[in-house]
Amino acid sequence: MGKIVIRVPATSANLGPGFDSIGVALHLYLTVIVEEETERWRVNHALGPDVPTDDQNLIVQAALTVNPQLKPHQLTVMSDIPVARGLGSSSTAIIAGVKIANELGEMDLSLADQVTLAAKIEGHPDNVAPALLGDVVIANFDGEKATTVKLAMPDDIKLLGFIKNQPLLTADSRKVLPDQLPRQQAVRGSSVANVMVAALATKNWQLASHLMEQDQFHETARTKLVPELPKIREVAHQFGIYGTYLSGAGPTIGTFGTEPQLIVLRQKLTDMGMIGSLRIFAIDRQGATVNAE
Ligand code: HSE
Repeated sequence: MGKIVIRVPATSANLGPGFDSIGVALHLYLTVIVEEETERWRVNHALGPDVPTDDQNLIVQAALTVNPQLKPHQLTVMSDIPVARGLGSSSTAIIAGVKIANELGEMDLSLADQVTLAAKIEGHPDNVAPALLGDVVIANFDGEKATTVKLAMPDDIKLLGFIKNQPLLTADSRKVLPDQLPRQQAVRGSSVANVMVAALATKNWQLASHLMEQDQFHETARTKLVPELPKIREVAHQFGIYGTYLSGAGPTIGTFGTEPQLIVLRQKLTDMGMIGSLRIFAIDRQGATVNAE
C-alpha cells in the first residue's frame, strides 16, 4: 500500500444563533499521512506532550470506533490549528479518524454516513459537518442521525479570528450556559436563526451578518468568559462591519468581512493592544480530502 494523505480543515461553529448547528470551514488544516502497517498504532507528531502518540490518540480512537477491526498503522500528523480555542481541532481529528477507517477498512461510507458517525463521536454536528463537507453547513443531529445542508458563503467574505492565548475547554464553556430559556426568548432565538439561514441561502449577506449578532442561546452567558466579544463587535461597527460572534465554545472571536475591511479592523485591534493573535482566514470550500500517493 502507498501512503494516504488526509487533510481536514479547521472550523468555526455557531455563527451566533446557529448554536450547535451551523459551522464554516477555514483555510487552516490538520494533515494526516497514513503510512505502513505496524505492530501497534504509532502517531508521530510535534503537537506537544499532551497529545498521545499511541492508540489513545483521538484520531486512532475515532478510526477504531468506526471500525474496530482496523490493523495498526503508523501515522504522521501535522496541524496548524490551535487546540481548545474554538476552531474545531478535535473535530478535525475525528474526521481524520473516520476517513482512515473508511480507507483502510474499505468501507465505502457515504458522506451522510460519515457525518453521522463523526457527530456521534463529537456529540454535536456543527464542527464535524463543515470539516467534512467544506464551506458553511447547517446541521442537525438527533442522537442517531445527522442531516446537513451545505450553503455557499459569499465569494469575497473572509474571517478575522481573534485567538486568545489561553485555551478554553468546550466542557467548561458549556457549564455557564442556562439549562432553560423563557419561551419568548427561545422563540426569538429560533426565529433569528431561521431568518439568518434563509438570508445565507438567498445570498443576503447584509441581513445574515446583522442577525449573526443576535444570538439568544449562548453568547450572553459566555461573555463573562470572553469579555472581548462585545468590545470587538463595537469596534467592528465603527467600521461598518457586522458579523462578529463567538467561535464555537470560544475563546476565539470571529468577525466576517471583506479582506480590506478585516485588514483595517485587525490594525485597529492590534493598536488597542488586544492580547492574542489576529489572523485572517479564507473559507475552505471543499472540506476534508483524501489522496493516495
Ligand atoms: N457548538 C458548541 C458550543 C461548540 O458552542 O458549545 C462547538 O461544537
